Amino acid sequence: MRVRSIFLALFSLPFLLSLPFSSSQLFTDSAISSSELDAILQDCAFKAFFNPKTGVPYDAKLPKNLSGISVSAMRLKSGSLRKRGVQSYKEFHIPIGVIEQPYVERLVFVYHNLGNWSKVFYPLPGYSYLAPVLGLLAYSGSNLSASELPELDIRASDKPILIKFSNVKSAPSGSVAKCVYFDLHGSVQFDILSHGNACSTLQQGHFSIVVESNVPSSLAPAPAPESVAVVVKGNGGNNKYKVWIIVAYVVGGLLLVIVLSLIAARVIRIRKDMEIQQLEWVDDSYESLKTTSIGGTKAPLAMGTRTKPMLENDYIP
Ligand SMILES: *[C@@H]1O[C@H](CO)[C@@H](O)[C@H](O)[C@H]1NC(C)=O
Ligand SMILES: *[C@@H]1O[C@H](CO)[C@@H](O)[C@H](O)[C@H]1NC(C)=O
Ligand SMILES: *[C@@H]1O[C@H](CO)[C@@H](O)[C@H](O)[C@H]1NC(C)=O
Repeated sequence: MRVRSIFLALFSLPFLLSLPFSSSQLFTDSAISSSELDAILQDCAFKAFFNPKTGVPYDAKLPKNLSGISVSAMRLKSGSLRKRGVQSYKEFHIPIGVIEQPYVERLVFVYHNLGNWSKVFYPLPGYSYLAPVLGLLAYSGSNLSASELPELDIRASDKPILIKFSNVKSAPSGSVAKCVYFDLHGSVQFDILSHGNACSTLQQGHFSIVVESNVPSSLAPAPAPESVAVVVKGNGGNNKYKVWIIVAYVVGGLLLVIVLSLIAARVIRIRKDMEIQQLEWVDDSYESLKTTSIGGTKAPLAMGTRTKPMLENDYIP
Protein backbone atom coordinates (compact mmCIF):
# COMPACT_ATOMS: atom_id res chain seq x y z
CA MET A 1 0.00 0.00 0.00
CA ARG A 2 2.68 2.52 1.00
CA VAL A 3 4.82 1.60 -1.96
CA ARG A 4 1.85 2.16 -4.22
CA SER A 5 1.08 5.59 -2.84
CA ILE A 6 4.71 6.58 -3.18
CA PHE A 7 4.69 5.56 -6.83
CA LEU A 8 1.45 7.47 -7.26
CA ALA A 9 3.14 10.53 -5.81
CA LEU A 10 6.08 10.02 -8.16
CA PHE A 11 3.80 9.86 -11.17
CA SER A 12 1.77 12.90 -10.17
CA LEU A 13 4.92 14.93 -9.57
CA PRO A 14 5.22 16.28 -13.12
CA PHE A 15 1.65 17.57 -12.88
CA LEU A 16 2.34 19.21 -9.54
CA LEU A 17 5.46 20.79 -10.98
CA SER A 18 3.61 22.11 -14.01
CA LEU A 19 1.01 23.85 -11.83
CA PRO A 20 3.12 26.91 -11.01
CA PHE A 21 3.92 27.30 -14.71
CA SER A 22 0.26 27.75 -15.58
CA SER A 23 -0.21 30.44 -12.98
CA SER A 24 -0.80 33.75 -14.67
CA GLN A 25 1.10 35.68 -12.02
CA LEU A 26 4.40 34.00 -12.75
CA PHE A 27 4.40 34.75 -16.45
CA THR A 28 3.14 38.27 -16.56
CA ASP A 29 5.12 39.65 -19.49
CA SER A 30 5.40 42.97 -17.80
CA ALA A 31 7.95 44.37 -15.40
CA ILE A 32 5.15 44.98 -12.91
CA SER A 33 2.58 42.44 -11.80
CA SER A 34 -1.14 42.82 -12.33
CA SER A 35 -1.67 43.53 -8.62
CA GLU A 36 0.97 46.28 -8.71
CA LEU A 37 -0.90 47.71 -11.70
CA ASP A 38 -4.14 47.62 -9.65
CA ALA A 39 -2.44 49.72 -6.97
CA ILE A 40 -1.11 52.26 -9.51
CA LEU A 41 -4.55 52.55 -11.13
CA GLN A 42 -6.28 52.96 -7.75
CA ASP A 43 -3.94 55.84 -6.97
CA CYS A 44 -4.61 57.52 -10.35
CA ALA A 45 -8.35 56.97 -10.06
CA PHE A 46 -8.59 58.54 -6.60
CA LYS A 47 -6.63 61.59 -7.83
CA ALA A 48 -9.39 62.17 -10.39
CA PHE A 49 -11.79 63.04 -7.57
CA PHE A 50 -12.28 66.68 -6.72
CA ASN A 51 -15.39 67.16 -4.61
CA PRO A 52 -16.87 64.08 -6.22
CA LYS A 53 -20.62 63.68 -6.62
CA THR A 54 -21.95 60.30 -5.66
CA GLY A 55 -22.84 58.00 -8.52
CA VAL A 56 -20.91 60.00 -11.15
CA PRO A 57 -17.94 58.43 -12.97
CA TYR A 58 -14.72 60.46 -13.07
CA ASP A 59 -12.13 59.55 -15.70
CA ALA A 60 -8.57 59.35 -14.43
CA LYS A 61 -5.39 60.65 -16.04
CA LEU A 62 -2.68 58.02 -16.38
CA PRO A 63 1.09 58.38 -16.79
CA LYS A 64 2.20 58.42 -20.45
CA ASN A 65 3.87 55.06 -20.09
CA LEU A 66 0.48 53.42 -19.48
CA SER A 67 -1.33 55.02 -22.43
CA GLY A 68 -3.86 52.70 -23.96
CA ILE A 69 -5.39 51.93 -20.55
CA SER A 70 -8.44 53.83 -19.34
CA VAL A 71 -9.53 54.12 -15.74
CA SER A 72 -12.39 55.77 -13.96
CA ALA A 73 -13.75 55.99 -10.46
CA MET A 74 -17.21 56.34 -8.97
CA ARG A 75 -18.04 57.00 -5.35
CA LEU A 76 -21.17 55.51 -3.84
CA LYS A 77 -22.91 55.27 -0.50
CA SER A 78 -22.89 51.59 0.37
CA GLY A 79 -26.53 51.74 1.46
CA SER A 80 -27.66 53.01 -1.93
CA LEU A 81 -25.46 50.46 -3.71
CA ARG A 82 -27.20 47.69 -1.78
CA LYS A 83 -30.72 49.05 -2.26
CA ARG A 84 -30.52 50.46 -5.77
CA GLY A 85 -27.40 49.07 -7.46
CA VAL A 86 -25.90 50.96 -10.40
CA GLN A 87 -27.89 50.72 -13.63
CA SER A 88 -24.78 51.03 -15.72
CA TYR A 89 -21.21 51.98 -15.03
CA LYS A 90 -19.38 51.69 -18.36
CA GLU A 91 -19.83 48.00 -19.34
CA PHE A 92 -20.83 46.93 -15.81
CA HIS A 93 -24.45 46.56 -14.70
CA ILE A 94 -24.60 46.29 -10.93
CA PRO A 95 -27.85 44.85 -9.54
CA ILE A 96 -29.37 45.45 -6.13
CA GLY A 97 -28.00 43.39 -3.26
CA VAL A 98 -24.26 43.94 -3.71
CA ILE A 99 -22.65 43.95 -0.26
CA GLU A 100 -19.10 44.89 0.72
CA GLN A 101 -16.94 43.30 3.40
CA PRO A 102 -15.82 44.89 5.70
CA TYR A 103 -18.65 47.40 5.91
CA VAL A 104 -17.82 50.98 4.89
CA GLU A 105 -20.15 53.95 4.69
CA ARG A 106 -18.85 55.07 1.28
CA LEU A 107 -17.04 53.02 -1.29
CA VAL A 108 -15.34 53.70 -4.59
CA PHE A 109 -15.62 51.50 -7.65
CA VAL A 110 -12.52 51.72 -9.82
CA TYR A 111 -13.06 50.68 -13.43
CA HIS A 112 -10.21 49.46 -15.68
CA ASN A 113 -10.14 49.00 -19.43
CA LEU A 114 -6.71 47.56 -20.16
CA GLY A 115 -7.04 47.98 -23.94
CA ASN A 116 -3.92 46.89 -25.79
CA TRP A 117 -2.25 46.03 -22.48
CA SER A 118 -4.68 43.20 -21.77
CA LYS A 119 -2.42 40.35 -22.79
CA VAL A 120 0.60 42.04 -21.22
CA PHE A 121 -0.91 42.01 -17.73
CA TYR A 122 -3.19 38.99 -18.17
CA PRO A 123 -1.32 36.64 -20.52
CA LEU A 124 -3.36 33.54 -21.30
CA PRO A 125 -1.31 30.97 -23.26
CA GLY A 126 -3.43 29.07 -25.77
CA TYR A 127 -6.13 31.74 -25.93
CA SER A 128 -6.55 35.02 -27.73
CA TYR A 129 -8.60 37.98 -26.57
CA LEU A 130 -11.68 39.06 -28.50
CA ALA A 131 -12.26 42.02 -26.17
CA PRO A 132 -10.11 44.11 -23.84
CA VAL A 133 -9.73 43.02 -20.21
CA LEU A 134 -12.11 45.06 -18.05
CA GLY A 135 -11.78 45.40 -14.31
CA LEU A 136 -14.06 46.45 -11.49
CA LEU A 137 -12.51 46.80 -8.05
CA ALA A 138 -14.01 48.18 -4.84
CA TYR A 139 -12.18 50.30 -2.27
CA SER A 140 -13.15 52.17 0.84
CA GLY A 141 -14.15 55.72 -0.03
CA SER A 142 -13.56 57.23 3.40
CA ASN A 143 -10.15 58.76 2.61
CA LEU A 144 -9.75 59.89 -0.98
CA SER A 145 -6.06 60.75 -0.58
CA ALA A 146 -5.19 57.25 0.58
CA SER A 147 -3.02 55.08 -1.64
CA GLU A 148 -2.16 51.38 -1.61
CA LEU A 149 -5.61 50.67 -0.23
CA PRO A 150 -6.62 47.03 0.07
CA GLU A 151 -9.61 46.04 -2.05
CA LEU A 152 -12.90 45.50 -0.23
CA ASP A 153 -14.51 42.14 -0.75
CA ILE A 154 -17.76 42.60 -2.63
CA ARG A 155 -20.41 39.97 -3.34
CA ALA A 156 -23.57 40.07 -5.38
CA SER A 157 -26.12 38.35 -3.16
CA ASP A 158 -29.24 38.64 -5.30
CA LYS A 159 -28.51 38.69 -9.04
CA PRO A 160 -25.04 38.57 -10.62
CA ILE A 161 -23.21 41.64 -11.89
CA LEU A 162 -23.41 41.73 -15.71
CA ILE A 163 -20.60 42.84 -18.01
CA LYS A 164 -21.85 43.73 -21.49
CA PHE A 165 -18.90 43.93 -23.85
CA SER A 166 -19.07 46.15 -26.91
CA ASN A 167 -16.83 45.96 -30.01
CA VAL A 168 -16.14 42.26 -29.57
CA LYS A 169 -14.09 40.68 -32.37
CA SER A 170 -15.93 37.76 -33.94
CA ALA A 171 -14.67 34.31 -33.05
CA PRO A 172 -13.00 32.34 -35.87
CA SER A 173 -15.44 29.85 -37.40
CA GLY A 174 -15.57 26.57 -35.52
CA SER A 175 -14.35 28.06 -32.24
CA VAL A 176 -16.43 29.04 -29.26
CA ALA A 177 -15.97 32.34 -27.45
CA LYS A 178 -15.85 32.09 -23.66
CA CYS A 179 -15.91 34.48 -20.74
CA VAL A 180 -12.75 34.56 -18.69
CA TYR A 181 -12.54 35.78 -15.10
CA PHE A 182 -9.37 36.62 -13.18
CA ASP A 183 -9.84 37.00 -9.45
CA LEU A 184 -7.58 39.22 -7.35
CA HIS A 185 -5.38 36.30 -6.30
CA GLY A 186 -4.34 35.29 -9.81
CA SER A 187 -6.68 32.38 -10.43
CA VAL A 188 -8.47 32.03 -13.76
CA GLN A 189 -11.98 30.73 -14.48
CA PHE A 190 -13.85 30.26 -17.72
CA ASP A 191 -17.59 30.56 -18.19
CA ILE A 192 -20.07 30.47 -21.04
CA LEU A 193 -20.69 33.68 -22.93
CA SER A 194 -24.31 34.81 -22.71
CA HIS A 195 -26.38 36.34 -25.46
CA GLY A 196 -25.35 39.90 -26.33
CA ASN A 197 -21.66 39.32 -25.44
CA ALA A 198 -22.45 39.37 -21.72
CA CYS A 199 -20.53 37.76 -18.89
CA SER A 200 -21.72 37.56 -15.32
CA THR A 201 -19.98 37.52 -11.97
CA LEU A 202 -20.73 37.49 -8.26
CA GLN A 203 -17.39 39.08 -7.38
CA GLN A 204 -14.97 41.79 -8.42
CA GLY A 205 -11.94 41.20 -10.61
CA HIS A 206 -10.99 41.34 -14.28
CA PHE A 207 -13.09 40.02 -17.16
CA SER A 208 -12.81 39.45 -20.88
CA ILE A 209 -13.90 37.28 -23.79
CA VAL A 210 -11.42 34.78 -25.23
CA VAL A 211 -11.26 32.06 -27.80
CA GLU A 212 -8.91 29.09 -27.88
CA SER A 213 -6.13 29.74 -30.36
CA ASN A 214 -4.44 27.05 -32.46
CA VAL A 215 -1.04 28.07 -31.20
CA PRO A 216 0.03 25.44 -28.68
CA SER A 217 0.43 26.91 -25.25
CA SER A 218 4.08 27.52 -24.67
CA LEU A 219 5.94 27.67 -21.41
CA ALA A 220 8.38 30.23 -22.77
CA PRO A 221 7.32 33.74 -21.83
CA ALA A 222 7.41 36.31 -24.62
CA PRO A 223 10.19 38.83 -24.13
CA ALA A 224 8.93 41.88 -22.32
CA PRO A 225 8.36 44.82 -24.66
CA GLU A 226 10.81 47.63 -23.96
CA SER A 227 8.08 50.13 -23.26
CA VAL A 228 6.85 47.92 -20.45
CA ALA A 229 10.24 47.60 -18.83
CA VAL A 230 10.27 51.31 -17.98
CA VAL A 231 6.85 51.35 -16.37
CA VAL A 232 8.18 51.31 -12.85
CA LYS A 233 11.74 52.00 -11.96
CA GLY A 234 13.67 49.59 -9.81
CA ASN A 235 11.63 46.63 -10.94
CA GLY A 236 14.05 45.26 -13.55
CA GLY A 237 15.04 42.44 -11.22
CA ASN A 238 11.53 41.03 -11.48
CA ASN A 239 12.16 38.87 -14.57
CA LYS A 240 15.46 37.62 -13.20
CA TYR A 241 13.56 36.73 -10.06
CA LYS A 242 11.02 34.75 -12.10
CA VAL A 243 13.83 32.82 -13.82
CA TRP A 244 15.21 31.98 -10.39
CA ILE A 245 11.80 30.77 -9.25
CA ILE A 246 11.64 28.43 -12.25
CA VAL A 247 15.20 27.18 -11.64
CA ALA A 248 14.30 26.60 -7.99
CA TYR A 249 11.18 24.65 -9.03
CA VAL A 250 13.13 22.45 -11.45
CA VAL A 251 15.98 21.76 -9.02
CA GLY A 252 13.54 21.24 -6.16
CA GLY A 253 11.47 18.89 -8.33
CA LEU A 254 14.51 16.81 -9.28
CA LEU A 255 15.61 16.57 -5.64
CA LEU A 256 12.09 15.52 -4.69
CA VAL A 257 12.11 12.81 -7.36
CA ILE A 258 15.47 11.50 -6.10
CA VAL A 259 14.41 11.55 -2.45
CA LEU A 260 11.08 9.88 -3.23
CA SER A 261 12.74 7.12 -5.27
CA LEU A 262 15.22 6.51 -2.44
CA ILE A 263 12.31 6.23 -0.01
CA ALA A 264 10.47 3.91 -2.39
CA ALA A 265 13.53 1.68 -2.78
CA ARG A 266 14.01 1.60 0.99
CA VAL A 267 10.35 0.73 1.61
CA ILE A 268 10.59 -2.12 -0.89
CA ARG A 269 13.78 -3.38 0.83
CA ILE A 270 12.16 -3.18 4.27
CA ARG A 271 9.12 -5.05 3.02
CA LYS A 272 11.29 -7.78 1.52
CA ASP A 273 13.30 -8.05 4.73
CA MET A 274 10.08 -8.24 6.72
CA GLU A 275 8.79 -11.04 4.53
CA ILE A 276 12.02 -12.99 4.94
CA GLN A 277 11.97 -12.39 8.68
CA GLN A 278 8.39 -13.53 8.85
CA LEU A 279 9.23 -16.74 6.99
CA GLU A 280 12.16 -17.30 9.35
CA TRP A 281 9.95 -16.63 12.33
CA VAL A 282 7.33 -19.11 11.13
CA ASP A 283 10.10 -21.59 10.54
CA ASP A 284 11.54 -20.93 14.01
CA SER A 285 8.25 -21.26 15.82
CA TYR A 286 7.55 -24.45 13.93
CA GLU A 287 10.91 -25.72 15.11
CA SER A 288 10.32 -24.65 18.71
CA LEU A 289 7.05 -26.50 18.79
CA LYS A 290 8.70 -29.67 17.73
CA THR A 291 11.69 -29.51 20.05
CA THR A 292 12.14 -28.67 23.65
CA SER A 293 15.26 -28.17 25.72
CA ILE A 294 16.13 -30.86 28.14
CA GLY A 295 19.30 -30.30 30.11
CA GLY A 296 20.84 -28.06 27.49
CA THR A 297 20.12 -30.31 24.53
CA LYS A 298 17.23 -30.09 22.21
CA ALA A 299 14.94 -33.04 22.16
CA PRO A 300 11.85 -33.66 20.14
CA LEU A 301 8.65 -33.08 22.00
CA ALA A 302 5.75 -35.40 21.47
CA MET A 303 2.59 -33.55 20.69
CA GLY A 304 -0.94 -34.62 21.37
CA THR A 305 -2.23 -37.00 23.98
CA ARG A 306 -1.95 -40.70 23.91
CA THR A 307 -4.62 -43.04 25.09
CA LYS A 308 -4.40 -43.02 28.87
CA PRO A 309 -3.53 -46.38 30.39
CA MET A 310 -6.37 -47.98 32.28
CA LEU A 311 -6.10 -50.48 35.12
CA GLU A 312 -7.86 -53.66 34.35
CA ASN A 313 -9.40 -53.95 37.75
CA ASP A 314 -10.88 -50.53 37.49
CA TYR A 315 -13.09 -52.09 34.98
CA ILE A 316 -16.16 -53.32 36.70
CA PRO A 317 -18.69 -54.83 34.47
C1 LIG B 1 -0.93 50.68 -26.58
O1 LIG B 1 -1.22 51.76 -27.42
C2 LIG B 1 -0.61 53.02 -27.08
C3 LIG B 1 -1.05 54.07 -28.07
O2 LIG B 1 -2.42 54.17 -28.10
C4 LIG B 1 0.90 52.87 -27.06
O3 LIG B 1 1.51 54.07 -26.63
C5 LIG B 1 1.30 51.74 -26.11
O4 LIG B 1 2.69 51.53 -26.17
C6 LIG B 1 0.57 50.47 -26.52
N1 LIG B 1 0.88 49.45 -25.52
C7 LIG B 1 1.26 48.21 -25.85
C8 LIG B 1 1.53 47.28 -24.73
O5 LIG B 1 1.37 47.86 -27.01
C1 LIG C 1 -5.69 59.76 4.35
O1 LIG C 1 -4.60 59.08 3.77
C2 LIG C 1 -3.42 59.88 3.72
C3 LIG C 1 -2.37 59.09 2.95
O2 LIG C 1 -2.27 57.75 3.38
C4 LIG C 1 -2.99 60.19 5.15
O3 LIG C 1 -1.82 61.00 5.14
C5 LIG C 1 -4.11 60.93 5.85
O4 LIG C 1 -3.78 61.14 7.20
C6 LIG C 1 -5.40 60.16 5.77
N1 LIG C 1 -6.48 60.96 6.30
C7 LIG C 1 -7.39 60.47 7.17
C8 LIG C 1 -8.44 61.41 7.59
O5 LIG C 1 -7.30 59.32 7.62
C1 LIG D 1 5.99 55.34 -15.52
O1 LIG D 1 4.99 55.50 -14.55
C2 LIG D 1 5.38 55.40 -13.20
C3 LIG D 1 4.19 55.64 -12.32
O2 LIG D 1 3.14 54.83 -12.69
C4 LIG D 1 6.46 56.44 -12.90
O3 LIG D 1 6.93 56.22 -11.58
C5 LIG D 1 7.58 56.29 -13.86
O4 LIG D 1 8.51 57.32 -13.65
C6 LIG D 1 7.08 56.35 -15.29
N1 LIG D 1 8.18 56.16 -16.22
C7 LIG D 1 8.38 56.87 -17.29
C8 LIG D 1 9.56 56.51 -18.13
O5 LIG D 1 7.64 57.79 -17.61
